[in-house]
Amino acid sequence: MNLTLKIWRQKDAETKGKMVVYKVTDISEHMSFLEMMDVLNEQLVNSNEEPVAFDHDCREGICGMCSMQINGEPHGPDRGVTTCQLHMRMFKDGDTITIEPFRAKAFPVIKDLVVDRSSFERIQQAGGFISVNTSGNTQDANAIPIPKYAADEAMDSATCIGCGACVAACKNASAMLFVGAKVSQYALLPQGRVEATERVLNMVEQMDKEGFGNCTNTGACEIECPKGISLENIARLNREYLSASLKG
Ligand code: SF4
Ligand code: FES
Repeated sequence: MNLTLKIWRQKDAETKGKMVVYKVTDISEHMSFLEMMDVLNEQLVNSNEEPVAFDHDCREGICGMCSMQINGEPHGPDRGVTTCQLHMRMFKDGDTITIEPFRAKAFPVIKDLVVDRSSFERIQQAGGFISVNTSGNTQDANAIPIPKYAADEAMDSATCIGCGACVAACKNASAMLFVGAKVSQYALLPQGRVEATERVLNMVEQMDKEGFGNCTNTGACEIECPKGISLENIARLNREYLSASLKG
């Protein structure tokens, strides 16, 4: 395949960015999207040009690092996959592909396609954990009965990889799907109930502080989420928040 790429180039956080057009040739349909980007970068390095900076780590759909807005969609046109798992067979010879960083006030651009998603880390640090007594008297987790449906739903919520596609897909740049998943994975389990009230209040407070927008139920986040995190997580977040506010 021969392709035209329109890529957002930005030297650093302070410099104004712009779209730059590149051509890549002989791209195999079996390549992943990031392998195609590797081909471009090799080409740029060979001609003494600055390679395009982009985030990646596992390249297996697990770490949540790869973040690209491809033809206007976070993680591109396929469903249920991250950018690293997106294959070039989703495109046709002669296509023009637009590649931008995830856009949100709370995800400032660092360089080219790399954005700063440490706002997600700060939300996690505000309450996305359980405090466990490790003094030697710890109760065996298997001794706590958990209904199968609760274990399954908690596991589904826990599959959120914190990639930020939900924010990039949302016209309000809302982080409700991410926070909903993180609150839900504990809210559904007895171990998570102990700190449930402070967890949801603190995580939502941090989310607002970071400058994420409000949820207006458009559902774009659920469609673009590579892990199929459902809107039920947002409904549960709202219920948890309401009941915690009444207690508080
Ligand atoms: S909810 Fe989905 S889109 Fe949002 S951060 Fe988690 S995995 Fe990514
Ligand atoms: S590089 Fe880890 S999920 Fe894509």
